[in-house]
Parts: sequence; C-alpha cells; structure tokens
Amino acid sequence: MAMLEWFLVLGISAATILVHGQSGDTMTPTKSIVDGQTLISAGGTFELGFFSPGDSKGRYLGIHYRGTPDKTVVWVANRISPLNGSTGVLNLTGDGNLALLNSTGYIIWSTGTSNAINPVVQIVDSGNLVLIEGTSKNLLWQSFDHPSNTLLPGMKLGWDLRTNVDRHLTSWRNSSDPSPGDFSYKIHVNALPELFLWRGSVPIYRSGPWNGRGFNGIPEMQTNNMFWFNLTSNEYETTYTYEVQDNSILSRILLNENGVVKHLVLYRPKLKWDLYWQHPEEQCDEYAHCGANNLCSTSYVSACDCLRGFSLKSPQNWRLRDSSDDCVRRTALNCSSDGFFELQQMKLPDTSNATVHSNKSLEECEDWCLKNCTCSAYAIIEGSGCVTWTGDLVDIRLFTEGGESLYVRLASSELGQIRGNYRKKKLVIVIIISSLAGFPLLVCCIRLLWKKNKKRKQGETLSIHYRESRGNELELPLFDIHTIRTATNNFSEDNKLGEGGFGPVYKGQLEDGEKIAVKRLSKDSVQGINEFTNEVLVIAKLQHRNLVRLLGCCIEGEERLLVYEYLQNTSLDYFIFDSKRSAFLDWQKRLDIILGVARGLLYLHQDSRLKIIHRDLKASNILLDEELNPKISDFGTARIFKVDQIEENTNRVVGTYGYMSPEYAMGGIFSVKSDVFSFGVLVLEILSGTKNRMINQAEACVNLLGHAWRLWIEGRCLEILDEAVGCAYPESKILRCIQVAFLCVQERSENRPTMTEVVLMLSTESALLPQPERPGFCIAPPLMERDSSSSNKLTVTIEGR
Ligand SMILES: *[C@@H]1O[C@H](CO)[C@@H](O)[C@H](O)[C@H]1NC(C)=O
Ligand SMILES: *[C@@H]1O[C@H](CO)[C@@H](O)[C@H](O)[C@H]1NC(C)=O
Ligand SMILES: *[C@@H]1O[C@H](CO)[C@@H](O)[C@H](O)[C@H]1NC(C)=O
Ligand SMILES: *[C@@H]1O[C@H](CO)[C@@H](O)[C@H](O)[C@H]1NC(C)=O
Ligand SMILES: *[C@@H]1O[C@H](CO)[C@@H](O)[C@H](O)[C@H]1NC(C)=O
Ligand SMILES: *[C@@H]1O[C@H](CO)[C@@H](O)[C@H](O)[C@H]1NC(C)=O
Ligand SMILES: *[C@@H]1O[C@H](CO)[C@@H](O)[C@H](O)[C@H]1NC(C)=O
Ligand SMILES: *[C@@H]1O[C@H](CO)[C@@H](O)[C@H](O)[C@H]1NC(C)=O
Ligand SMILES: *[C@@H]1O[C@H](CO)[C@@H](O)[C@H](O)[C@H]1NC(C)=O
Repeated sequence: MAMLEWFLVLGISAATILVHGQSGDTMTPTKSIVDGQTLISAGGTFELGFFSPGDSKGRYLGIHYRGTPDKTVVWVANRISPLNGSTGVLNLTGDGNLALLNSTGYIIWSTGTSNAINPVVQIVDSGNLVLIEGTSKNLLWQSFDHPSNTLLPGMKLGWDLRTNVDRHLTSWRNSSDPSPGDFSYKIHVNALPELFLWRGSVPIYRSGPWNGRGFNGIPEMQTNNMFWFNLTSNEYETTYTYEVQDNSILSRILLNENGVVKHLVLYRPKLKWDLYWQHPEEQCDEYAHCGANNLCSTSYVSACDCLRGFSLKSPQNWRLRDSSDDCVRRTALNCSSDGFFELQQMKLPDTSNATVHSNKSLEECEDWCLKNCTCSAYAIIEGSGCVTWTGDLVDIRLFTEGGESLYVRLASSELGQIRGNYRKKKLVIVIIISSLAGFPLLVCCIRLLWKKNKKRKQGETLSIHYRESRGNELELPLFDIHTIRTATNNFSEDNKLGEGGFGPVYKGQLEDGEKIAVKRLSKDSVQGINEFTNEVLVIAKLQHRNLVRLLGCCIEGEERLLVYEYLQNTSLDYFIFDSKRSAFLDWQKRLDIILGVARGLLYLHQDSRLKIIHRDLKASNILLDEELNPKISDFGTARIFKVDQIEENTNRVVGTYGYMSPEYAMGGIFSVKSDVFSFGVLVLEILSGTKNRMINQAEACVNLLGHAWRLWIEGRCLEILDEAVGCAYPESKILRCIQVAFLCVQERSENRPTMTEVVLMLSTESALLPQPERPGFCIAPPLMERDSSSSNKLTVTIEGR
C-alpha cells in the first residue's frame, strides 16, 4: 500500500514536471506534445491541449479558455476523428507539417503544410493557433481560418476571394460530439452580404444587410457600446469580424448544437458567461416565418400581417390563418401612376432578388424604381446606397427600435385610400409634429380636424391624418356604438371592471369572440376630453409587448370610447397586495414582471419614436395577461416630450401620491426621472407585497421606502420580502433588484439611472451597481386632495406655484 502511494506521488510529480516543461506558448520540431501536456498563450487566456467533451470517451485536441468554468472549448483540431485513449501525440515536422498522431503513428489530423524553414507553432492570446516560418515570420496556417463552432474577437467569418475559402461556423453534433452537426452560420452574398444560419441547406435565420454600423436585422449591434463590428467587402474578401472595446471582457459567438447563435460575454474576474444576445430568439427571427409580402411583428396577436395594400391569398382563412400564407396585391400596379408607401423600422427583405445602385440618392432611387415597372420596393442602406427589389418581398419584420425604412410600391388608388380589413371603418389621425411645436399643437390639430370631420355627419369614416415630418399615416379602427353596446351588454354594471383615469371601464366580447375592455369617457368630465384625446394620441402610436394594445375607438354623438385588448388577469395590485393571491406570483414571475415593466417604460422613454413620460405609473396601472406578462396602461396623463426636451414644469400635478418623485410632487417638475422614481417604488412594492403608504408613526415619516431603507442600511434588506411567496428565492437576483430600486428612488433626480441603465442592470448580472443614496421619501405633500371614490388612491393637486 505504502509502495503504491509512493508510485503515485512519483507519477504525479513526473507529470507536473512534464507539463511545466511544455507550458510555454510555442512549439518547434524538436518538441512534441502528448496527452496531459499543453501550450498556454502568453497572457494566459487560452490553452491548447487534449480533452474529452461531455461523456465522450474519445480524446480531442483543442483550444479552450483557461480559468473559465468547464474549460469552454473554442476550437477542435480532430473534430471527426477522436483518438482512442490518451495516446495522441502532436508533432511538428522539420518542413512545417503540424500533425496529430495516434500511438501507432497514424496521422489523425494535420495542417497539410510543408516546405517551411524553421517552422514554429504558437498559441496566441487571441485564441489563434498559428504556424509561422521562424525566420521570415510568414504565416503558413492558422486555426482562425478553420473555425469550429465559435467566432472569437479578431477572427474573420466569410470569404477570402483570393483563395476562395469560405470560413464559417458549424455546430457540434451534441455536447459530447464535436463532429459537424446540421447547423452552419455563414456569410452569404446576394445583392449584399448577409449572415445566414442554415439547417442543412434550409435557411433558418438571416441577419439583414449591413448598414454601416451593424446588420440591419440585429438592432442591438447598433446601440451597443461594448464591441466594434466590422464588415469588409472588397475585391479580396467579404468578411465579418468584431472586437471587444474593453480588454477585461472576454467574448465569443457560439453556434450551439440546437442551432442558436449566442453572443456571450464574461466580465473578469467572474466565472460565468452572460448572454449578450442570441438569434433566432423569437418567431419573427425565423427566416420567412410569415409568407411573402407579410410583416412580422411580435406586437401583433398573430405575428403576421399583410403589408399595406396587400391581402391574404386565401382570405377565408384569416381567423385560422397559417402564418406562412402569402399576401398578394389587392390592386394591380399600373406602372406609370404608382407610388410608394414608407414602412419604418424594418428588417429589410431578403436581397436574393435585389439590385444595388451604389451612388443613388433617396430621390434618384425612388425615381429609378418608379420607372422600372418590375421594381417592387426600394430602400437606402448606409454604405451601400440604393437597393431595389423585384417581385415578392420575403422575410420582413418590424422592430420596436432600429431598422431601416422600406418603400413599397403600391397602386395609386391604394395609397389614397385607407386600408380596410375586417373592421371597415378607421380613424386616421393626422398630426404635424415639427421640431418646434410639441404637444399643445398636437391637441389643437386633432381637435380642429375632429370638428371639421364632424360636419360630415354620422361619422362614417373619420379621417384625421397622422403625419410625421416624413409623412406616414396611422390608422385606428373605428367601432360603431351598436357594436360596443352589444359587446358590453349595454354598459351593464355586471360588465364594469372598474374606474379608469377618466371614466368607467367595461368588459365586452365582440361578435367574433374577441374579448375587449372599453373605457368610456364620463359625459360630465371636462378634464376627461383632454385625457381622452391625449390617450388616443399617445397610445395609438405605440406598439410594445409590455404596453396595453388599443384596438380602436368610437366617437359617436356624445360618446367617447376607447377599445382595448382585454387582459384576463386584471392588474398587478389585485395580486401583490392580497395575501392569498400574492402566492400566485412566485419570485421568478415577480422578477419577470419587473423586467417587463422596465422594458415597457424604456420603450416609452426612448425606443418609441416619441419620448413619452407616463406620469402615473403604479401597480393598478400594470395589467397582466393570461401568462401574467405585465402591460402598462392608462395614458390619460402621459406627456409627449420633444426628443431633446429634458423636463417640463406643470401647474397641475397629476399622479398618485406614494409614487411621485419629490421634485414632481413639490415643484411640478417632471421628466423621465420622475417615472424612474415611480418605477423604483413599484419594484419595492412588488417584492414586499406592501403599498408605499404613509404610516403615521411617532417617528415622523415611515412608509415602505423608509422602512426598506432602514433594513438596507442595517444589511437586512431581504427581510422586506413578501412572506406569502415562501423563502426559496434567487437571492443574488433579488438583492440586485432591491439595489436597483433604491437607485431609482434616490432623492436627487440626476442621481437616478435612466431606464436604459435600469434594464441593463436588471438583465445582466454582471453590470456593476453603484451604492444608492438616501431615497426621497420624507416629503410631506404640500396639498393633498383625497379621492373619495377609492380609499387607497390619493391624488395630489397643486394649483399655481
Ligand atoms: C481502442 O482501444 C481499445 C484498447 O486498446 C481497443 O479494444 C479498441 O478496439 C480500440 N478502438 C478503436 C476504434 O480503435
Ligand atoms: C491508429 O489509427 C488507425 C487508423 O484509425 C487505427 O487502425 C489504429 O488502430 C490506431 N491505433 C491505436 C493504438 O488506436
Ligand atoms: C514525434 O516527435 C518526437 C520528438 O520529436 C519523435 O521522437 C517521435 O518519433 C515523433 N513521432 C512520430 C510518430 O513521428
Ligand atoms: C451524441 O451523438 C452521438 C452520435 O453522433 C451519439 O452516439 C451520442 O449518444 C450522443 N450523445 C448525447 C449526449 O446525446
Ligand atoms: C475593418 O476591417 C478592415 C479590414 O480588416 C480594416 O481595414 C478596418 O480598419 C476595420 N475597420 C474598423 C472600424 O475596425
Ligand atoms: C394607368 O394609369 C394611366 C394614367 O393614370 C391611365 O391613363 C391608364 O388608363 C391606367 N391603366 C390601367 C390599366 O389602369
Ligand atoms: C427570387 O426570384 C426567384 C425567381 O423568380 C424565386 O424563385 C425566388 O423565390 C425569389 N427569392 C426571393 C427571396 O424572393
Ligand atoms: C460613386 O461616387 C464616388 C464619388 O462621388 C466615385 O468615386 C465612385 O466611382 C462612384 N461609384 C460608382 C459605382 O459610380
Ligand atoms: C428593371 O429592373 C430589372 C431588375 O433589376 C432589370 O433586370 C431590368 O434591366 C430593368 N429594366 C430597365 C428598363 O431598367
């Protein structure tokens, strides 16, 4: 026994010496590497050595990160021919062939290079294994030219046109088998180079063309500030590369076994990879998820919708519609008299049947397209110029941010008239937003036009045109009052869901079975008219999965009605402030709701084309759908800001006490940061299941914020958590959430983060969080007016200043 141990010790130290003997980053023909020995890059980031993935018994030679968990492998030499046992040897011949041999001397894998003088093999800190001629430093071979399933910063994906080599990623078969699987990710050059993800020979995802800053179909690329992305297209190469701006961050793009491209980042000294983005992520990412001439949008109920001027090939199917149904023109084109309709924020169609005209301006592009009768659409792509399409438009989607404008050719009669689908009447709103005139003008316009149209009697098609500086129309279906009366059982008490900002809300069901919520403006409400108009203006423009969807409106006689999608699970306050129902919302669900609300608010503040301050964010204004996804509602008091406007002052403070930031409640100053404050309060309420009410205790002001802040200072902040949900919670995520909430409710608005920062802090676990300062909770409202209709709502009104 003692003898055996002794041998073991000897064996281990011998192995250690061997490893040390080879742990440089280079290899010459006099050395060889056997299983157990490695080469380590100079900076210590990457290591070349033998490994067995997953539960595989075979041995592979590959490059992996050092010091990351489970030795993330980024490159494999002998992907298709594993070694049998630890018998492999990596030898470099005197004339420069790097070969992997098994114990009987059989070549399992080699670089196939020869005729080199003094060859040297080196593992570089970028993760590249290079074979160079020692004297001339000529590069003979590099692993970056033979990618496996991983793209590293500095590595080129795409075509070397001189050697006609197409560098692309291929997935592993499974986590234990690195041999090439079904998926590949490569640059495909149609009219323009695009990244395509293939399963075998079927495209399953497309990146969209390059627009100078990133791929058109990956808006995240254009807003990121962590990477530089680069597409090079010239006579020598068509390649895509990327670099990390900050060297302390590790990054890789992985095509995994299931055909998902994941962009991963690791912040040192952390040991966990975070997902930065991935594709395909949602159904609209899927290549041609909708049929030809469809628009895919995650905010549509059915994901797919025909382009304007097009209708389904087989219209009888539309309720049961199959997403892959094609759409066809309703009105045939007449070359000479056609026009174009602009679609904004688009992922541009597949460029297989497109043509690039590099030096044409927008006007010249339109002109060319108009003259060529086969041209069906055009767009301007930065860096490439004018692009025109013929025939069907395939794989288009609508983004909530980013994307390019696409101009689709339509018959002139289609351009003039309003689109009618199953709800024939539409309200089209025309507003002129100039950079000088902001919100007040909007209201005037809509009022004027409204009046003008009223003269046309019985409101057949109220047509108020919505026009931004570049001119696109917005349509809002118009319901007739009989439909609404039938749907809501003539506004019966049984159908009443509650009171909204300016009147009661009723539940209803349309003839086709669709459930709706109808908001009815109280006849005697003066303020209501403004809020009604405001809500139509604000929400008709918005589409986001975390905002409640407006289906249409009804203006007849005295009636002013807004028709919304019906959300089954009512509102958030119904759950979180009830001891029994709060048990339905487990911790993960609560965190999801918080992130959902944050995304909705970010969209309002920044990502929609308008900048909107909600001003009354609170638990009862967060509605929940079937899957308990949150949707922000009630835009009666929202304000549209000019994009460069920071804050505004008002004499009429509207909102709900407890959610209002100090500067707003006290001074009437509101900005995006006052919504951020309300959001922070909401987060603490969601986590604690308690309202942020004033608790009039002896010690001045103690409300939820005060209470939570004390616990935070004492390092016991987890004690605020709602006991109804049990104690098994993701501690690190909850702590992060609480800290973000405190950052949001800081007294000084300039210290509060923006919603962009909030979403980032909530969605990546690695973002560093600053320490919050004391929240602005000790403010006594100067003048409070108790809203008698509901006991738990307090509305502050400050008149004058
Ligand atoms: C691997 O080696 C084992 C034992 O040396 C042998 O039995 C087996 O047949 C070998 N398999 C292959 C595929 O060479
Ligand atoms: C080396 O590889 C050859 C070809 O695959 C095979 O015939 C031979 O058995 C292998 N030797 C060992 C020891 O695995
Ligand atoms: C590999 O290289 C070592 C040392 O250079 C040499 O002894 C050995 O014979 C080589 N193996 C084969 C199979 O060529
Ligand atoms: C991986 O695929 C191989 C065949 O390619 C199969 O034999 C093996 O069982 C698979 N392993 C796992 C974990 O799925
Ligand atoms: C993009 O890559 C090309 C060729 O590799 C290089 O010349 C150019 O400087 C790069 N541009 C940026 C912005 O990195
Ligand atoms: C096409 O438009 C022109 C000019 O408006 C008109 O004269 C012609 O009749 C139209 N042709 C068809 C087939 O509609
Ligand atoms: C391009 O045109 C060809 C021939 O008309 C057609 O078969 C193909 O589907 C088109 N591709 C796309 C992406 O529109
Ligand atoms: C586009 O314009 C630039 C400068 O105006 C010129 O150098 C280039 O040759 C033009 N390209 C084409 C294809 O006409
Ligand atoms: C019209 O466009 C098509 C496709 O881009 C092209 O093949 C054709 O030559 C053009 N015709 C004219 C008259 O420019």
